[in-house]
Amino acid sequence: MTTTHSGVPTAGRTTAVAARATDLTKVYGQGETQVVALDSVSVDFRQAQFTAIMGPSGSGKSTLMHCMAGLDSISGGSARIGDVELTGLKDKKLTQLRRDKIGFVFQAFNLLPTLNALENITLPMDIAGRKPDRAWLDRVVETVGLAGRLKHRPSQLSGGQQQRVAVARALASRPEIIFADEPTGNLDSRSGAEVLGFLRNSVRELGQTVVMVTHDPVAASYADRVVFLADGRIVDDMPDPTADMVLERMLRFSGGAPQTPGFDAKGRTS
Ligand SMILES: Nc1ncnc2c1ncn2[C@@H]1O[C@H](COP(=O)(O)OP(=O)(O)OP(=O)(O)O)[C@@H](O)[C@H]1O
Ligand SMILES: [Mg+2]
Repeated sequence: MTTTHSGVPTAGRTTAVAARATDLTKVYGQGETQVVALDSVSVDFRQAQFTAIMGPSGSGKSTLMHCMAGLDSISGGSARIGDVELTGLKDKKLTQLRRDKIGFVFQAFNLLPTLNALENITLPMDIAGRKPDRAWLDRVVETVGLAGRLKHRPSQLSGGQQQRVAVARALASRPEIIFADEPTGNLDSRSGAEVLGFLRNSVRELGQTVVMVTHDPVAASYADRVVFLADGRIVDDMPDPTADMVLERMLRFSGGAPQTPGFDAKGRTS
């Protein structure tokens, strides 16, 4: 099976590859405690595309994101961001690459409580001693929909607003790709929808590339494509997902009972 999505690009999408894994393997531990978290995974993430990664707990989703983002070493194969091969990069170069080309959003928002929203958004660039591109920052702030809340501290914002600040922080340096590991995992469905809408807009309006891990078929329906992992391998690759299609695919894997997915991003009921 080919694991590279080769659907015909629709208007506005490009075919350039933002990140690529080739036979990517990750093994944790040794001997009896050895775990093959990723087993020869090959996948492309195209520029200006929103990809969701799904799969059962322990299937390797976070490991894939961490290896692709240079946050964890790889055991075999290769991981590339743009034209840059991660293996063999010295620490300093890797740190630079992470800072300049990669944004990461975690399940916990990881905002600094003493800084206001705007200060949190620009913090990584301030630390790196770089001036944000003002026009870009204004667009990000406009897209994030927090223009009236920029002086608020995290404790004065809702969970959804805090996570949107975290996504804006990842976007501020205009990275080549954003990896988000269950960014809506701690949010109620309304706040989750806010964050997903913003991620969706950042792809559509700002041309960002986003890869997001989720367990939720409704969240996955915001993406252009869903890649399914099981036991460290890619087992399916679904273009233009709806919540129904994703749920049906998940049930076929697990044989479990359906949840109630509600509305998907394309406004369809399920
Ligand atoms: N640091 C580590 N040391 C040893 N084993 C690990 C480590 N990190 C992950 N694993 C193992 O690798 C496998 C994949 O883990 P991973 O965290 O990528 O799963 P996941 O798909 O993100 O799961 P979840 O949906 O629960 O977050 C699991 O079997 C896990 O126990
Ligand atoms: Mg995980």
